[in-house]
Amino acid sequence: MAIIGNKKYQERINEHLAKYPDKRSAVMPLLYIAQEEYGWVNDEGIAEVAQLCDMDATQVKSIAGFYTMYSEKPKGKYWLQVCTDLACALRGADELHHELLHELGIEEGGTTEDGMFTAEHVMCLAGCDRAPMLQCNFHFVEAVGGLTMAHLRELIAAARQDDKTLQKLIAKWRDEVNKQVQQS
Ligand code: FES
Repeated sequence: MAIIGNKKYQERINEHLAKYPDKRSAVMPLLYIAQEEYGWVNDEGIAEVAQLCDMDATQVKSIAGFYTMYSEKPKGKYWLQVCTDLACALRGADELHHELLHELGIEEGGTTEDGMFTAEHVMCLAGCDRAPMLQCNFHFVEAVGGLTMAHLRELIAAARQDDKTLQKLIAKWRDEVNKQVQQS
């Protein structure tokens, strides 16, 4: 489905466009919306963002190509990004990353055959105090004591069950982390 005329995104699109005196300034948040809808930044999404921002599609494509948070190829339903930068590496992120790829049976940056998961390593996600840090579809996933492969197996199983179960699990872990922070 398109993002233009899609009720799901209408309010957010209008908000982003209204934030800036020049529509072109909204190109990045709108590219996120296109990526959310299509799972990656494809030609349809680029054309729609170009139309919304009154820009040339080539210009939009070059912006999407410059930033690593936009994917130029199809991703799985869940895009898992493991930070392997210094603070996370010191807390076992490299092993976690390799075990995750092994568990999913994919290579770095690959997608599972069922189209459910894409996994890759990334640079600092700005959550170093809770290393090792992982993002699932751009949302932090954290757990008391730091994420382990046991957590990731649980996360994979929950996602395979359904999205609601996954979100509930992530929220539960986050609440536990917040509680621990408040108590310390
Ligand atoms: S080094 Fe991993 S979040 Fe900063």
